[in-house]
Amino acid sequence: LPEKTLAMIKPDAVQANYTSAIRQIILSEGFHILDEKLAHLDDVAVKSFYREHAERSFFPSLIRFMTSAPVYAMILEREEAVKKWRTLMGPTDSNKARIEAPNSIRAKFGIDGQQNCVHGSDSPEAAVREISTFFRVLQESNVDSPR
Ligand code: CMP
Repeated sequence: LPEKTLAMIKPDAVQANYTSAIRQIILSEGFHILDEKLAHLDDVAVKSFYREHAERSFFPSLIRFMTSAPVYAMILEREEAVKKWRTLMGPTDSNKARIEAPNSIRAKFGIDGQQNCVHGSDSPEAAVREISTFFRVLQESNVDSPR
């Protein structure tokens, strides 16, 4: 069953000109890109997007990083998109990714635990919320509901 997820190329990778290389990997792994856009997030947008991390010690630094340059947001669709995109990204910490998942995108293009080149929604419910922060779409539900 096709599922959607939000993929975001973060400021470190956009700045380093990795956008087209990462986009090519995504397409070669069988994802369809339904929509995509470059966006420069402000503090309010980042605080909302990452609100579940608001109490973490790295939050102020995360806000500075995520507002430092544009991001490139994409709606990805394929079977099990949320899980498949998270596997393709690899572990959050790019240095851990280089040891544990050397073929992952973070292993290839990430810098460290914060500047880790890409983001992916962590559940179908989060995907609905995150897609709506970037894209104004008439979105059907991404989760099964009883009928
Ligand atoms: P992401 O998967 O987008 O979700 C939250 C982000 O916070 C994460 O990627 C990193 O960019 C950042 N992050 C997570 N853990 C840490 C950490 N320990 N130190 C600094 N930044 C972090």
